[in-house]
Amino acid sequence: TQRTLVLLKPDSVRRGLVGEILGRIESKAGWTIAAMELRTLDRGTLEQHYAEHEGRPFYEPLMEFMASGPSVVMVVEGERVIEGVRALAGPTDPIAAAPGSIRGDFGTIVRENLIHASDSEESAARELKLFFPELD
Ligand code: GTP
Ligand code: MG
Repeated sequence: TQRTLVLLKPDSVRRGLVGEILGRIESKAGWTIAAMELRTLDRGTLEQHYAEHEGRPFYEPLMEFMASGPSVVMVVEGERVIEGVRALAGPTDPIAAAPGSIRGDFGTIVRENLIHASDSEESAARELKLFFPELD
């Protein structure tokens, strides 16, 4: 069984979509929320989290947006959750995301795409340690 790091980004919290998005994740058979917190992300954490994007034109606006208000930070556990939450979220660009996916149902802007989920086992291990260092 896997664990993945999920962020409901500041736009999800501001727009009151936390219950809706959480419901979709929680409804998947056998998946459980292992940890969850409302947290305003600091610059240091975000720099580590998005290190792969440093220098890209969208980097600074992304960092500013991600620090613009509280996010829901959580650990989801269950069968194939890494792949599974990415599938629920849909592709990065919400306009390209199919209806039925979280981004496809609620998003329009690439930067404000509602949710982050680890994209591989390696990313999940790194991100879980970064956001929940106290978790085994
Ligand atoms: P995350 O789950 O947030 O990591 O999204 P992702 O894995 O689908 O996308 P990626 O890691 O490639 O990019 C991280 C975030 O940067 C995205 O979720 C977007 O918010 C933003 N982003 C990525 N590419 C672009 C882009 O071309 N333009 C803009 N404006 N933002 C982008
Ligand atoms: Mg990513």
